[in-house]
Amino acid sequence: TPSAGARRRPREQFSGQTAFILAAVGSAIGLGNIWRFPGVAYENGGGAFMVPYLIALLTAGIPILFLDYAVGHRFRGAPPQAFRRISRGLESLGWFQIGICIVIALYYTAVIAWAVSYFFFSFNFAWGDDPTGFFVGEYLQVGEPGFSLDFVPGVLIPLVAVWVVTIVILGAGVAKGIERANVVFIPLLVVTFTVLVVRALFLDGAADGLNALFTPDWSALTDANVWIAAYGQIFFSLSIAFGIMITYSSFRPRRSNMTGPGLVVAFANSSFEILAGIGVFATLGFLAFNEGVAIDQLENLTGVGLSFMTFPAVISEMPGGQLFGALFFGTLVLAGLTSLLSILQVVSSGFQEKFGWSPRASAVGIGSVSAVISIVLLGSTTGLIYLDTTDNWANNIGIVGSAVLMTVLLMWVLRRGKELQYHLNTVSTFQLGSWWRFCVGILAPVLLTYMLASRIVTLIS
Ligand code: PFF
Repeated sequence: TPSAGARRRPREQFSGQTAFILAAVGSAIGLGNIWRFPGVAYENGGGAFMVPYLIALLTAGIPILFLDYAVGHRFRGAPPQAFRRISRGLESLGWFQIGICIVIALYYTAVIAWAVSYFFFSFNFAWGDDPTGFFVGEYLQVGEPGFSLDFVPGVLIPLVAVWVVTIVILGAGVAKGIERANVVFIPLLVVTFTVLVVRALFLDGAADGLNALFTPDWSALTDANVWIAAYGQIFFSLSIAFGIMITYSSFRPRRSNMTGPGLVVAFANSSFEILAGIGVFATLGFLAFNEGVAIDQLENLTGVGLSFMTFPAVISEMPGGQLFGALFFGTLVLAGLTSLLSILQVVSSGFQEKFGWSPRASAVGIGSVSAVISIVLLGSTTGLIYLDTTDNWANNIGIVGSAVLMTVLLMWVLRRGKELQYHLNTVSTFQLGSWWRFCVGILAPVLLTYMLASRIVTLIS
């Protein structure tokens, strides 16, 4: 039961539909769109990947986004509270989702802090002639066993700054904090990103990069792993099934159109990631051109490697690289920060509702404990490896597992499908039909269970 404090406090709200859409788009557009999608598409059939990708979006992405909305909006809480209101036993599923959020948040803050450093490094190419060696050896000092914060101020200052900014924004509450931050950051992100992509298109070799990305390999369509990659990308990218959209939709007034904004968010998110694919591969095309190699000979085409090893190399070689670098890392910071806010809000709301804390107390409490943990993890060699492995499990097993549990428990065990569907339909302009219950109740659980099983097998073996 919530404490007296929580009961007295009225639920926080976004000031309107646009604010909600901006915040939800801010959450969805993150590092996953910029550094994950392009490489995943390239490795899984190129242009042909768009087929499983769009099918995954329509059969699982958007339907489960609506399921998240229905749960959060009807039961008005972060996952533990919302699920508890559906059925007592379901509260633990909510805490499981909060656990996933904590792991992802710790990893995300480290990456955002690196992006902040690299924003500044762009101005004098501080990574020198060997960006890979710089990142691994000098910047992170990987390889020296034990714990050390010698890399101060390279990482420590940005890391602390990211935490302080996050705590201040979350502490200000939903309307005054998260909403205002997104109203400023999202338009800024769209501007920096657009300039970046347009610039990339004018680089020598850009066309080769786009050919490499979009040339379809139709044989990929018969490969189960390609389909798994598509569903995985959609889940992470839309921020669904780990509590974020449940929490955000709980801050909308009782009678609100939910499905219309959902489609806007999904469309904006996918458009952004396809454009990111274009920008990243145009840039990689330039790198290959400049080094006189074929694109398939390049390494580090996703994630940390792409951002902190490959891109610095390109930036140094490019005319006007300083500006390009600043824009690229600035984009990473903005996209990352707006996602980080959403994931930590899940944790913060969960604790507020459980213990009756105020938004400020919760943000400061959770933020400072997590900040200390993330500094310790970053300072110790083993910590980083631990974080990477845990993040891998959270992404590959955690999110999909949570989606399976959510769909099976809600639709089959507790049989709440119709109730949730009718809830969204009474308040939304765009009506859900029985196709929605089919996707969420049958198609998605079957596909996701298969996906989970095959991932567990791959990870264990
Ligand atoms: N949709 C986000 C992305 O594509 O990066 C997923 C996410 C990750 C959301 C981390 C929030 C977060 F903290």
